[in-house]
Amino acid sequence: MIKNENDLSADRNIFKLQKENERLRSLLQVAESLGSVIDLDELLFRVMEIVRERLNAERCTVFLIDYDRKELWSKVALGLAEEIRFPLGKGIAGHVAATGEVLTIDDAYSDSRFNPEVDKKTGYKTRNLLTMPMRNKQNEIIGVFQVLNKKEGAFTQDDIGLLKAISSIAASAIENAQLYDELNKTFISFMETLSTTLDARDYITSGHSRRVTLYSVQVARLMRLKKEEIELIRYAALLHDIGKLGIPEIVLFKNKKLTEDEYNIIKRHATLSRSILKKIRFKRYLKQIPEIASSHHEKIDGSGYPLGLKGEEIPLGGKILAVCDVFDALTSRRQYKDRIDIVDVMSVLEKETGNTFEPYVVYQFKNITLNVLIEILEFGHKEDFDLGDLALLRNYTLNDLLRIRRQGAADEREQKAAEAFMFYYQRKYRGE
Ligand SMILES: [Fe+2]
Repeated sequence: MIKNENDLSADRNIFKLQKENERLRSLLQVAESLGSVIDLDELLFRVMEIVRERLNAERCTVFLIDYDRKELWSKVALGLAEEIRFPLGKGIAGHVAATGEVLTIDDAYSDSRFNPEVDKKTGYKTRNLLTMPMRNKQNEIIGVFQVLNKKEGAFTQDDIGLLKAISSIAASAIENAQLYDELNKTFISFMETLSTTLDARDYITSGHSRRVTLYSVQVARLMRLKKEEIELIRYAALLHDIGKLGIPEIVLFKNKKLTEDEYNIIKRHATLSRSILKKIRFKRYLKQIPEIASSHHEKIDGSGYPLGLKGEEIPLGGKILAVCDVFDALTSRRQYKDRIDIVDVMSVLEKETGNTFEPYVVYQFKNITLNVLIEILEFGHKEDFDLGDLALLRNYTLNDLLRIRRQGAADEREQKAAEAFMFYYQRKYRGE
């Protein structure tokens, strides 16, 4: 049967509707996919992947505008690990950011605005590109999409329309993530400043909180704890001694033997840490910070303070802090005194394992590799580390070192590693 004019027009309408329907469904999927991500890096990565796929292109990069530095930047261009930054106005993306124009270029290398430096850096060959500004709800340009190398033919009006629609969804998700990121950074810098203030007050154990944090994070990683649990332990470690701010200096820094009363005053710092930290509003997964921080002097046999908690009553984070805290106290450099030998330090820890310390924590502590361990021990004095030494130390753990030093080395390489470690461990700094 031959279709008449009316039928054909109806077919065309149905086809149009189907296409529109498909487009809307696709956009809904995009909105769903982006709405659930709050981490900026992950979000950018996902946006780029979606655009690349929907526009059938080889690559997509989202550049965001850093108005403070007057630059465009992109962290996660697909297939490129490093961050790219360039001045606003430079190259095609810069031009689009500055003018708000949408640009489709069918032959990149014959266009004078094209900046071939990124290609040079990555070894990639750009043929054609579609570049579009990304605008927020206030219609301000917050970034630029650059879609490279359409897989078949050139970019079309349909591509532009689709990218515009995705762009407005992406822009609001990105702005949310940036806000969240900003809030997070403010929180982290606040935590770190508090911790630095605390460390600065105590010149004898300078850098203590920082090192305890680094050790604790290592142990937590070796235990394969989740990202959020590691973060929880990190902040609890940074602030575990914050209660010391409430202890009078005359007691805290007394260099003679403490009386029982004075010792009792110092012990109060654990409870004080809890009450200070309780006043901070933490996100849900960080709520346990005050409990973990204030339990770093608990012992698994119940003879610790402030609460005399036993075994499983002590949070895992508190058990990790306890080991790292004592390790740092025993290995820190005191004025006019050599460091206690690492083997003796570990003998003290081992003797207390099972009554003061959780055996599994000590076990994992000994699995820290020697390059990491020496970098934490010598935190702040790492400029003259020999890279060859660090590469050698990477192959051995603290456990290996103890075996080598106690029972002798199995081969020359082991011997060399132990000597390299002890060289940094025992060295003296100029002027001290
Ligand atoms: Fe403490």
